Amino acid sequence: MLLHVPEVLSKEQVAGMRRVMDGAEWTDGRQTVGPQGARVKRNLQLPEASPVRRELGEMVLAALRVHPLYHSAVLPLRTLPPRFNRYEGGGEYGFHIDGAVMGAGDDTHIRSDVSVTLFLAEPEEYDGGELIVSDTYGEHEVKLPAGDAIVYPSSSLHRVTPVTRGARVASFFWVQSMVRDDGMRRLLLEMDTAIRKLSADGADQGSILQLTGVYHNLLRRWAET
Ligand code: NI
Repeated sequence: MLLHVPEVLSKEQVAGMRRVMDGAEWTDGRQTVGPQGARVKRNLQLPEASPVRRELGEMVLAALRVHPLYHSAVLPLRTLPPRFNRYEGGGEYGFHIDGAVMGAGDDTHIRSDVSVTLFLAEPEEYDGGELIVSDTYGEHEVKLPAGDAIVYPSSSLHRVTPVTRGARVASFFWVQSMVRDDGMRRLLLEMDTAIRKLSADGADQGSILQLTGVYHNLLRRWAET
């Protein structure tokens, strides 16, 4: 499931983060991938140990904690600290698949179920830089307003096209979901969305209660915590 999550950050929050990032030191993005990724990755990242990365990552996580659609879609169990990247001057990242198991930096690991890209530059600021996600329905091209995020299964092949003008700045990170299976997560999101709409429309309370019970009992069956 490829899902657009709008307005994770306000324009003011994005502008504040961009000011901090403009003054930060960047490093070659190949440092955080294996040999196969390194062959196709051409971008810059905030260094893993950078205090700026930690500070901005906390801001991203705080914004996600209060975003209902994000929670409903991702059902996050564990989230890796967000990273930040910058593509410019032809920078790109060829087709690759994200690692299935990733170190969390504290001797523990997470399974990557969901990949998230949070756009921190407006589409007009740069040419190219589309995120292309390939799934069984074909290839999807994603380029969102600053502050918006795209959520997609970590199991999908994806790439970032070359940036030929300006700079594409984004945050990206991985989440282990309480519900491992993408299809199950999608059913839960659709059910949750329908229940919210029925409530907003003033539908019969008894039926809403029954559906809410089904939602939670499915989640109880499927969730690992
Ligand atoms: Ni990737």
